[in-house]
Amino acid sequence: RKIDSEVPDVIKYFDISVVIDVLRATSTIITALSNGATCVIPVSDIAQALSLKYYNPGYLLGGERGGQKIEGFDLGNSPFEYDEKTVKEKTVILTTTNGTSSILSASRIAQKVLLASFLNLSSVVNMLSGYDAYTNIAIICAGNNGEASYEDIQVAGAIIFGIVRKRSHRLSDSSIIALKLWESLKRPDFSGEHAHRLRELGFEKDLEFCQMIDHFRLIAKFENGKIVKIG
Ligand code: MLT
Repeated sequence: RKIDSEVPDVIKYFDISVVIDVLRATSTIITALSNGATCVIPVSDIAQALSLKYYNPGYLLGGERGGQKIEGFDLGNSPFEYDEKTVKEKTVILTTTNGTSSILSASRIAQKVLLASFLNLSSVVNMLSGYDAYTNIAIICAGNNGEASYEDIQVAGAIIFGIVRKRSHRLSDSSIIALKLWESLKRPDFSGEHAHRLRELGFEKDLEFCQMIDHFRLIAKFENGKIVKIG
């Protein structure tokens, strides 16, 4: 356990936390960075996002509530909206129902915060495999409104599967559950509640896209209020 000198009143329990909101926040952020966005600023509420946009009119404002684009925003939360033409060299402000708050919470408990999805799975596994077995890693599944998300746990399991193949780590019970789930599936199964809801809203293509393992090779890191690409 270490104490962050910059935030003395907060104990950082973990060396690294890895945030997963595969449907769709972390998949969308990774897509935006891969398509050249300068950075993504995650914010938890709509008012804060609007005020940031007001003072920075050149920034793109993206996000969703209930899966749908927020009124007055430039973009929703579909990875297809964050194409190169739209996001290259732009700063994106993003607020989503679960994902962006999970990223902000993760930074309170860990020294380093990374983002994961199926899209950048091997990049995350390779990076985490470089740390020794004494490194405390927390995998944070954003879930849906306080409920577990079947799809997020699959990504967690796939990450753990990749790491334990390379070196032995002591796993928590929830990590063992995620690992066993992934070992039994071996490929994404987007049949959970949130996937169902997104299908109903017409986002079938997003579901197909977010299942693409290793579509991108990049690491996304949250630091000093911004998510940036580091590899
Ligand atoms: C979230 O942050 O809750 C999600 O990314 C919701 C969504 O699918 O847009």
